[in-house]
This record gives sequence, C-alpha cells and structure tokens, in this order.
Amino acid sequence: MPFWMENEFHPCFSTTKSPMAKTIIVSNRLPISLRHRNGKFEFKPSAGGLATGLDSIYKSGENIWIGWPGNTVDDAEQRAEIIIELHALKMAPVFLSKEDVEQFYEGFSNETLWPAFHYFTQYMIYNPDHWDAYVRVNQKFCEAIVKKADPDDTIWIHDYQLMLLPQMLREILPEATIAFFQHIPFPSYEIIRMIPWRKEILEGVCGADLIGFHTYDDMRHFLSAVGRITGMSGQSGYIQAENRIINVDSFPMGIDYHKFAKQAKSRKTQNIVKDFRQKVGDQKLLLTIDRLDYSKGIPQRIHVFDQLLQQHKELRGKVSMIMVVVPSRDRVQSYKELKEEIDLLVGRINSEYSTLDWVPVHYFYRSFPFEELSAFYSMSDVALVTPLRDGMNLVCKEFVASKTNQTGVLILSEMAGASKELQDAILVNPNDRQGVVDAIYEGLSMKESEQKLRIKAMQESLKKYDVFQWVKVFMDRVEHVKEKQAELTSKDVDAKVLNEIQSSFKKATNPIFFLDYDGTLTGFTANPQDAVPDAELKKLVKDLSSKAQVVIISGRDKDTLGKWFKGQNIDMIAEHGVWVHRKGQKTDWELYAEIDDTWKDDIRNVMEYYVLRTPGAFIEEKHHSLVWHYRKVESGLGDLRMRELFSHLKYMARGHNLQVLEGNMVLEIKRPDINKGRAATSLMKGHEFDFVLAIGDDWTDEDTFKAMPKNAYSIRVGYAYTQANYNIKSFKQVRQLLHKLTQ
Ligand code: UDP
Ligand code: G6P
Repeated sequence: MPFWMENEFHPCFSTTKSPMAKTIIVSNRLPISLRHRNGKFEFKPSAGGLATGLDSIYKSGENIWIGWPGNTVDDAEQRAEIIIELHALKMAPVFLSKEDVEQFYEGFSNETLWPAFHYFTQYMIYNPDHWDAYVRVNQKFCEAIVKKADPDDTIWIHDYQLMLLPQMLREILPEATIAFFQHIPFPSYEIIRMIPWRKEILEGVCGADLIGFHTYDDMRHFLSAVGRITGMSGQSGYIQAENRIINVDSFPMGIDYHKFAKQAKSRKTQNIVKDFRQKVGDQKLLLTIDRLDYSKGIPQRIHVFDQLLQQHKELRGKVSMIMVVVPSRDRVQSYKELKEEIDLLVGRINSEYSTLDWVPVHYFYRSFPFEELSAFYSMSDVALVTPLRDGMNLVCKEFVASKTNQTGVLILSEMAGASKELQDAILVNPNDRQGVVDAIYEGLSMKESEQKLRIKAMQESLKKYDVFQWVKVFMDRVEHVKEKQAELTSKDVDAKVLNEIQSSFKKATNPIFFLDYDGTLTGFTANPQDAVPDAELKKLVKDLSSKAQVVIISGRDKDTLGKWFKGQNIDMIAEHGVWVHRKGQKTDWELYAEIDDTWKDDIRNVMEYYVLRTPGAFIEEKHHSLVWHYRKVESGLGDLRMRELFSHLKYMARGHNLQVLEGNMVLEIKRPDINKGRAATSLMKGHEFDFVLAIGDDWTDEDTFKAMPKNAYSIRVGYAYTQANYNIKSFKQVRQLLHKLTQ
C-alpha cells in the first residue's frame, strides 16, 4: 500500500448532519496522478500542498474525492478500468481532453490565474479561448458532482482552477451546502481588476456558503474585490448576496503532524539518513524542496548561495545545498524557461566551486518517496524556504515536524502564508539577497539551545493546529453559516406570511403602517436628493392611505419629506422623530422634542475635517442632527474613514450627551432621546390599532421595531440581524407587498 493510503481514520468530518451525509472533496488534481508505463497506466502520488495536505483527511465515512487524474485517457475501456480502481480508493475521476488540459489547465488556470494571484503579472495571458475552456471544464466538474451529491452532503471545492463551480452548483442545487477553499494567495483588487472575466470569477466563488483562505490578507483582498467588482456589500466577513449571507474567513492549513514526526523517527527513515550521511560526509546541509515554480524563488536562492560562498570562503567545502525540484506544469512556457534557468545556474555554481570531494548543490529534478523526503528533512541543518509568494507552504511545516531531536533552523520567507504562524523561524524578505545570505550565516552558527527553543515553539503550534483541526474548524464554520442562513430565511416574508398579513389587514378596522423611506420604499442613489418618489410609489402611498393610516417615518429632513409627499393624506415623522406632520393638518410641522443645538458647531468641525480627507464624502445638515455621507466614496476608504470618524464622534458624543448612529453609508449624530421608536409610540398614544405594520432597512428602524406592540408585524429589508419579526429581500418586494394589500 503506498504511503498516502496508510493513514488512520480521523473523525474530523463529523457533523450534526445525518450519519449518511458525506463530504465531497473536489479539486482539479486528485491526490494520485496517472502515469504511462509500458503502454499501461499506473498511479503515483501527486505533488503539491493541496494533494498532500488533504490526503490524510478525505477517507473517513462515505466521503469521496472528485478530480482530474492528471493525464488524458481517451480509450473507453481504460477509462472504465480507472473508474473502478479509483472507486476502491474513494475517488472519482473527471476526465479532461487534450484540449481541456491545454486551454483550461495549462492555459487559463496556470497562465492567467496562477501568475495573477502570485503577482507575476508579466506572465499573464488573456486568451478568450482559454476562458471558454475554463467555463466548459468547470461545467464538466459540476455535472460529475451533481451525479454524486445527495441533499445532505457538503461539497467542498478547492482552489483556483474551479472558481466558477460553486455558483454553477448553486444554480442546480440551490439548497446545497457548498464550501470553497483557496490554497493560493488572493491578490489585491489592483491585480484582480486586470482579468477581463473578474466579475464572473468572483460571482462564481460567491455561490459558496463559506469561502476560506489561508491568511487574513487573502481574505480581506477577496472581500474588497467582491465589494468593488460585484457591488455586493459585506461586513465583518459576511457578504450579503441576494437572498443569503456568505461567510469569508481565514483558516491557516496545518499538516498531519504526527505522520511526519513518526516517519522521521522510523527505522526506515533513520537508515536512509545514515546512508545519505555516509555519502555527503559531515558537512552542514541546507535543504530546499519545491515544485518547479517561479513563485518559489528557486533561481534567487541559487544566487543567494553563490553570494554566501563568495562572502564566507571558509564555508566552501563545509556546506552543501540539497535542492529538490519536483517537476510541475513543464509544458507551460514560463515553467520551461524556469527549468532552463535553474539548470544553467546549478551548472554554473557547481562548476565554479566544486572540488573532487565536495559539490555545492545536490540538485534533483524529480519527486521522492515519503521516507526519503523525511530523511532529507531529518538530516538537514537548515531549511531554506524562500518563496517570492506562496499561499501557505507546507514544506516548512513538514521540516519542523520532522525535527524530532529539535535541532535545526528554519529560514522562511515573509511572503509565505506560513510566516504568519511560524514566527520563531528566521523570517526573511526573499528579495533582499544580502538579508537572506546573513540569515543563512546566522542559521549555520545558531547555538543548539536556541535552535531547540525555536523548533519546540513551532512544533507546539503545528501539533495543536494540525490538518485535522483545520478541517474541524472549517467544517464547524460551514455548519455555523448554514444555521445563520436558516435563521434569517426562517423569517422571510414567504407566501404563507404574506397570506397571514393580508387576511389580518382585511379584518382590521383601524390599521396603521410605519414606513421608512430610503432603502425601504425606494433604492439608494449616489446623491440623496435624487431619491425622489417615482409615480408608482406616489400612487402606492395614495392607495394605501385610502385604506389605512400611513406614517412615513424617516431620518430625512422635514422640508424634503414635506415636498415629496405634499398633498398626500399621510402622517410624516422627520429627522428620526424630531418633527411630526399629522395628516390633514393645515399648520406647519410640530416639534416633537425640546431641542438644544449648541453641540452642532463642534461636531460639524470634526466632520468637515473628515470630508476634507475623504473625496466624495459630504455633510448633510438637518435641523437637529448632522449626517456624514460616504456612499460616493471609493469603497474601502469610505469604511475606513467611517470607522475612524465613528470612534472620534463616539468620544465627543459622551460630553454632549449625543448618540452616533450607523446607517446605510451614513453616520448620523443626534440626541439619544430622539428616535423613531419614541416618535412612533407617541403617535400611537391614545389610539387603538388592530393592525400595525412597520418596515425599515437600517439600525435607526430597529427603534421603531422595538416600540411596536406585541401583535404588530415588523419587517426588516435585507437579511441582517434584527428585532423585526421578518426579513424581506429588497424595496422592490416591499412595494409588491404593499401593492397586494391595496388590492
Ligand atoms: N512533495 C512531494 N514529493 C516530493 C517533494 C515534495 O509530495 O518529492 C510535497 C511536500 O511534501 C509538500 C508538497 O509537495 O507537502 C508541496 O507543498 P507546498 O505547500 O509547500 O507547495 P505547493 O506545491 O503546494 O505550491
Ligand atoms: C498548488 C496548488 C494546487 C495544485 C498544486 C500542484 O499546491 O494550490 O491546486 O494542485 O500546486 O500543481 P498542479 O498544477 O500539478 O496540480
């Protein structure tokens, strides 16, 4: 049995779902790849962090792994054989044609997305045929999954090759539990926007319920790109999609720690170590292990070693580098060129420094079986892991786990996701050649006591947060998101609720409606003064007011409301309850609260300062409140400044006894005793209403909801947490609901 099949059962996929529920892991590459040998196919373990990392965890229960077996198979009989063999290994193949491989795998995945996501924009290719193939192959995966998926299953999609798949599945299986994890970095918006198909890609991923990245930076880049490119809003790691919430979070992936520790101690590995040691003598060993990839910084590392040997001549003959490069994507032009460059550089350094009994670089362009890899980890003094960009990097973690005697030094690039966790490594900037040379020198001379302290600390954390824990945390989170979604949709105004509201309204003799304006009766506009009620809305309000008492309860200033609803037979509450205008009232607006406005000058000064620093922001001055608007500000910057201003105003508010409210793209400051709830309560005082309906879309409406009598219907627009009894999708559905009631 090959080593990748030897793992024990780990119950890390346990969930509260039915015992038959399974997890379907989906990735482009299966953990095994097919290799042609003597006219036949044989299986070989796949290289790369995704395959090796998940290898320990997919076999529990009824789980299954769907993916490409790494080679084209045209013969139907051979395909059938492979399907049977893989079935026994709990895998199912998605076969790709030669053209798929060229255009989807080598093309769009590895010549567009991979370079973009690793900030190698110079290697990016924009080819519409490659994009078509990407769509086509994602569709192929979708069909394969739909054949295997049962309603209770969790479908866990991995990596950048399959970013359209979550949404494709969502369209066919709207209720499915779908998670997505990206194993490579997610770059800044500036890079993502370069891809012509960026919107489709982001919307594709957003078909998932949970979206995971290795680091916080990846997650925040993703959230920012989604906000800017798709327009979906997000807060605290939640994206508000049309009718559900999506959670985005970071989950740094661990390794199967004990597998590496156990293997390093095993007699088999220690015999190999003895054998290798005899061959290389007692010199110090630097170890580098990577797939062939420009993101790994392999040529740069050879230059560093060259510089070390030049600057520290005493190390010649005493230090060697073991350099394992695992063949990968070698038909892609940039990889071909990289291979040539490495061959050339290794040739050059070896020919320059080698002696009859010493070679500076032991270079292997192939993959190694697990026990030999373990021997390399075990016998090396320093691991040099210096990628220019890496989503996580598992090699550095495997090195640390294999150091069972706790001596050894890890030099780790700041650009690898793992650097966020392995703070006891010597951290380097891979672009700072002298810095890396110095780090190697420091590593080679580090006292054993310090090595032990550092390795021990890193081992503790790797042990605790191993790959099983990673899966558990991720799966728990999937369940949490589904619960949250269910909670919100259980409050949806569905046909049943609608019927109930309708029949209760029909029976009522004295009904009243409290309707917020912006976001509730109409959508938002960049300029607030443009959100004038349209003809449809005016008619709706008129029809409704002929059947019930209608109160527009808004944060808007009284003059605007007065102008927009002039002549309508309704009540109006403006500025969150500062002013009221009763229906049929001939006189002007009534002041609902005794107001002291002496605070305004101080607060306006502060707000103006934030307007100056935030292009697009502006202040709206109401009679008894000040509002800072940031809808027109570049997204990201708006949120940032709003947070800053929020804490600034909160601090000032205490002295003035004021309240700061966060609305939809606005911050409003006003007296706390003035709110929509208080105004609604006083408007209802002394009257008996047998039907009450309140609708609103933001935090200021929560006061209205709280003030409603027990038997009232309260509805919050959007799927946010709320005191209201129900949620409704958007202002359009609000209009539909009100329209129904007028019929
Ligand atoms: N690896 C392998 N065979 C080898 C050398 C390395 O399977 O001969 C594995 C290594 O153990 C590690 C993975 O390849 O688990 C590389 O993962 P990493 O996250 O470091 O980089 P990636 O290849 O995913 O970019
Ligand atoms: C990285 C990617 C994986 C990929 C692996 C090997 O680890 O995150 O998705 O499978 O490299 O690359 P390959 O192109 O051979 O599948």
